[in-house]
Amino acid sequence: MSILSIENMNVRFKTPDGMVQAVSDLSYSVNKGETLGIVGESGSGKSQSVFALMGLTADNGIVTGQANFHGDNLLSMSKKQLNHIRAERIGMIFQDPMTSLNPFMKIGKQLAEVLMIHKGMSRHDAQTEAIAMLDAVRIPSAATRMGQYPHEMSGGMRQRVMIAMALLCKPELLIADEPTTALDVTVQAQILALLRELQAEFNTAILLITHDMGVVAEMCDRVLVMYGGRKMEESDTESIFDAPAHPYTQGLLKAIPSITEDMDRLPTIPGNPPSALLNNKGCPFKERCSQYQTQCSSVMPAFKSITASQGLACHVNPSNVVTPIVRSA
Ligand SMILES: Nc1ncnc2c1ncn2[C@@H]1O[C@H](COP(=O)(O)OP(=O)(O)O)[C@@H](O)[C@H]1O
Ligand SMILES: [Mg+2]
Repeated sequence: MSILSIENMNVRFKTPDGMVQAVSDLSYSVNKGETLGIVGESGSGKSQSVFALMGLTADNGIVTGQANFHGDNLLSMSKKQLNHIRAERIGMIFQDPMTSLNPFMKIGKQLAEVLMIHKGMSRHDAQTEAIAMLDAVRIPSAATRMGQYPHEMSGGMRQRVMIAMALLCKPELLIADEPTTALDVTVQAQILALLRELQAEFNTAILLITHDMGVVAEMCDRVLVMYGGRKMEESDTESIFDAPAHPYTQGLLKAIPSITEDMDRLPTIPGNPPSALLNNKGCPFKERCSQYQTQCSSVMPAFKSITASQGLACHVNPSNVVTPIVRSA
């Protein structure tokens, strides 16, 4: 059953150089309890596509389309309605925990206030619940930590506090935008394992943004590949690794780097990401695509299914382009 269904969402920005199209005609849904990955290079519109859902688009932005959460369109809600949903039913975690933590307030007070405001709890009950949630995200000596400020904690601990904060009201959906990108590999693995455990415990659906196919393999049930603001491929996780259909996805997989390299540079796909200015016609991947055909310059291919769980937006017949990808260990 889908809890969030996005239809034809566009995010545009007015800039001095013209209109920037950050997200184009994006449609997808998230099912109850699943983890859906959104993967793509830096600048492909991943963050803006979820910021729009939460009313966090910058003032020069224009969002159109539909994002139905239990039948209500998030994109047409008032700030007040969104604030409620954001705290109670959709949790959000970011790469930088300080985007959601107040540096001047003790951890315990920040957590307890969420419960007092949104769940109407007494201070005492809210504090008890906050300590329980800090325990749940495996923060040692939770009761003592309640009295600390964010800057007194390590990056990994702050990330845990942010996850605790996002899960306090037991949301049905957790949106995680590169939640582990800034962390070292060991802490990253711990945080991902923690997210999986909490998901099993609370049956939370997770919308996980990442530029790391390794994280996709480890975490996701399904994945959406974005490029130039568009959905290029959507697939169950197994098929995306076994039979990636879109030339861009194939490039992403060939480029799985060793863990110390920066995935954003994609060494095996020559060229740069497209300009996001609105006058860009045809497929955004055309300049870098190994399968380029003339029509790719003028017409954006429609998204089409190739199996029940996999589809792509590409003019080239996918049966011609699928080449087995050998994954480096
Ligand atoms: N306020 C803004 N004004 C103009 N362009 C913006 C603004 N915010 C984001 N963008 C553009 O939107 C595009 C998508 O950005 P983003 O969603 O952050 O990419 P990703 O998360 O995939 O790295 C980029 O080209 C970025 O420059
Ligand atoms: Mg981003």
